[in-house]
Order: sequence, then structure tokens, then C-alpha cells
Amino acid sequence: SFMHEAMGLSVLEKQLKETLQVANVAIVPGNSDDQEWVKQEMGKICVSFLQENMSSHETIAVTGGTTMAAVADMMAPLSEEKDCLFVPARGGIGEKEESQANTIAAKMARQAHGNYRLLYVPDPLSESSYRTMIKEPAVTEVLNLIKDANAVLHGIGDAITMAKRRKTSEDILRKLEEEKAVSEAFGYYFNASGAIVHKVRTIGIHLHDLSERNQCVITVAGGQSKAQAITSYFKQGRSDLLITDEAAAEAILREN
Ligand code: G3H
Repeated sequence: SFMHEAMGLSVLEKQLKETLQVANVAIVPGNSDDQEWVKQEMGKICVSFLQENMSSHETIAVTGGTTMAAVADMMAPLSEEKDCLFVPARGGIGEKEESQANTIAAKMARQAHGNYRLLYVPDPLSESSYRTMIKEPAVTEVLNLIKDANAVLHGIGDAITMAKRRKTSEDILRKLEEEKAVSEAFGYYFNASGAIVHKVRTIGIHLHDLSERNQCVITVAGGQSKAQAITSYFKQGRSDLLITDEAAAEAILREN
């Protein structure tokens, strides 16, 4: 029955909170690796959370990926007076147009009846372009909005899957393999202990911003194939809420 299932998931949620040391966990039934609608179910939970917790004129920063794109599909008005601003958390990070943080921020804003600002920076950026770009007033302005965001929504990817999808160079791929990278989030790659083994140089939120600022961080990641990646990210990354699916949750608990 539905009740039975809900109770079963709440037991899993409690176990996952303890295992990953995260304050809030929400688990939806299914496996996002096989069923696309599971990402949308995670998206619905994310949207309800925002509806309950965001105030007027707050800023929400979002990363890229297919999971965040599914959250955008589910985005709905955050209520009449809640005129939120959506910004990409970081520059492009080499994703397809529909999975880019810019596209997702704009779509969320449209569906939430909010506003958006975009970051027009390529990535990865060379050290010298990075130094030049962060001095551009148009970039600085958006960067300040990003750094002051009230909430940050992000995905987690399997490291090698993400590196290949973003057409990462052979050198970097080899480095990621040698250093045993397991997860990726915000353009950072982590090993199984949560240590940063590589970082894509682009403009936007850096990992230390999450621990220094009092932002509400919402992580959305599911699918059995992401179990190790999720465990790895939580060894290092700060998050207030993990929204995941049953298949990922069960695999994480089996492996830990
Ligand atoms: O940073 C993580 C990735 O954006 C996750 O991508 O949701 O398509 O698996 P995905």
C-alpha cells in the first residue's frame, strides 16, 4: 500500500541521514537510472521545499545537468509575492544547451514567474582569461548575486561519466582515473574520501563559499549508478537537504 511504502521510505531516510550526516533527506520511489520520471518526482519535492522555505525577492543559484533540468520541468510559481531571482551557480561547464545552468535558471524563472540573470562565460577558462573576465563589470555584477544567493540547488554526477560527457581532455581524464575520482559537483571532482582531485576553472560558486556563507544548499541526485558519487560528495560538501531515490539510497546503505 501507499502508507506501507511511505513508512518504508521514512526508515531509509533516517538511515541515510545518519550514514551521510545530512540534516534532511527525502527519498522518492524508483531508480532515476532507468525511469526518467523519477527525476521529475525528485524535482517536485525540491519545488515544494522552495515553496515552503523561500521568501520574497530571494536568489536561487542552480547548477546544470539532467537532474536540474527535470527540477526546472517541475518548477511552479513560488507564490504571488515570491518574486525570486534565478542565477546559474557557475559558468557553462561544457554541458549541452538543455542541461546548462544558464538554460535551467532561465526556465525555472519562467515557470516560477520570477526573474533571472545569466553568466556568459565559457569553460574551462584559462588562468589569464579567468583573471580578465572576473574584472568585467557585467560578470562581477552577476557573480555578486551568485555569491549572495539564499539557496543553492545542485546535482552530483559520477566523475568519469561527467568528465566524458563534458568532452574533458585526455590528460584530465587520465588524471581523474589516476587520482580515483568518484564524484563531481559544481565543477569539482572528488575521490572516495571526499578530497578534491580536480577543479574546472570557471566563474561562480566555489566550494568554500558554501561553508562560509549561510546559504541553504539543496542536493538532488538519484539512481543506483550514483551511489558512490553521493557518498563521496557528502564526505566533503555541505548540504542541508538531499533529495534522492530509493535505488540510490539502498545502494548507499549497502556500500557503507
Ligand atoms: O554536477 C553534476 C551533474 O550536473 C549531474 O548531472 O543530473 O545529468 O546526472 P546529471
